[in-house]
Amino acid sequence: NDLDKGTYPYYMAKEMDEQPAVIRKIIQSYQNEAGNLEIDQAIVAKLTASDRIYIVACGTSYNAGWVGKQLLETLTHIPTEVHLASEFGHNMPLLTKKPFFIFLSQSGETADSRQVLVKVNDMNYPALTLTNVAGSTLSREAEFTLLLHAGPEIAVASTKAYTAQIAVLAILAEVVGKTVGLSEENNIIHDLGIVASSMESILSEKEQIEKLATDYLSTTRNAFYIGRGIDYYVAMEASLKLKEVSYVQTEGFAAGELKHGTIALIEEGTPVIAVITDERIAGHTRGNVQEVHARGAHTIVIVMEGLEQAGDQFILPKVNPLLSPLVSVVPTQLLAYYTSLHRGNDVDKPRNLAKSVTVE
Ligand code: G6P
Repeated sequence: NDLDKGTYPYYMAKEMDEQPAVIRKIIQSYQNEAGNLEIDQAIVAKLTASDRIYIVACGTSYNAGWVGKQLLETLTHIPTEVHLASEFGHNMPLLTKKPFFIFLSQSGETADSRQVLVKVNDMNYPALTLTNVAGSTLSREAEFTLLLHAGPEIAVASTKAYTAQIAVLAILAEVVGKTVGLSEENNIIHDLGIVASSMESILSEKEQIEKLATDYLSTTRNAFYIGRGIDYYVAMEASLKLKEVSYVQTEGFAAGELKHGTIALIEEGTPVIAVITDERIAGHTRGNVQEVHARGAHTIVIVMEGLEQAGDQFILPKVNPLLSPLVSVVPTQLLAYYTSLHRGNDVDKPRNLAKSVTVE
């Protein structure tokens, strides 16, 4: 029974562990008999004809959207914007002539996202919903649907749906890219396979993360995640996860922006967790780690293999840099989980939060 926690104390623990299997299931689900990736031709046609992609979502799905933007722009060269549903509907930006909308929603029931979809449908623009729930409202009401195949997600804090959204967006981006003659040398099927194995190896090192949570986060009042580019997008999700389940006041920052204000909050012992997976900006983020370290912060560095330095706390197995969020987010999910556990919270049902929010 999918809904059974089995030997896990919390659904969140089970759902984090399911991620490698979910990635493999996604590869399988989007592969045709010849072993090639396949996406509904009508979706690909509308996307290649569009001049801009608008990603609309809330919460964790919104954070996945930023990684999706990176994937779509890199692999398809179609400019992509990411918007909060609750803002977009009431303060719509000027749209381009041929927009294509992507709604990201684990549940497919989020009211904030739905009110935008209703407007998009009224304007007759194409819309695609990526959701975990076949037959959900956002799936039924959008012209197109792609399923996440993550299996039911019960814990309020989303983990496997985030990684599933990124994996499906990567597949979509590669298929569209190849259709327009780009990203021909890419092999996302192969690279996602490596991601799944890498996730497994991270998940087998839980004790190491649990120790970091105990040492740095179990009594702190606040904490910061920093990163640049794709690592910043992960920092946003990592901080949302930590604050949701542990109630530690946490923000994710573009590493270079911290010094323009928030650095005022760094005190002796404030945890600052840096995510570093992108070679091109690793040196810059290192500089920001130094800045906060010099002001007393407890720094934790989560770094991609090949970029590590002595003293770094967690090394991630090497994967395609474009897919790095799929692995770098896993230790941050575990950090949130163990911090919540140690603080005695109900990990699966954080106060004031609901799994799906059906009011605006
Ligand atoms: C709620 C949940 C979040 C989720 C957000 C968007 O606020 O607590 O975990 O990310 O809704 O949900 P959706 O189902 O649209 O992805």
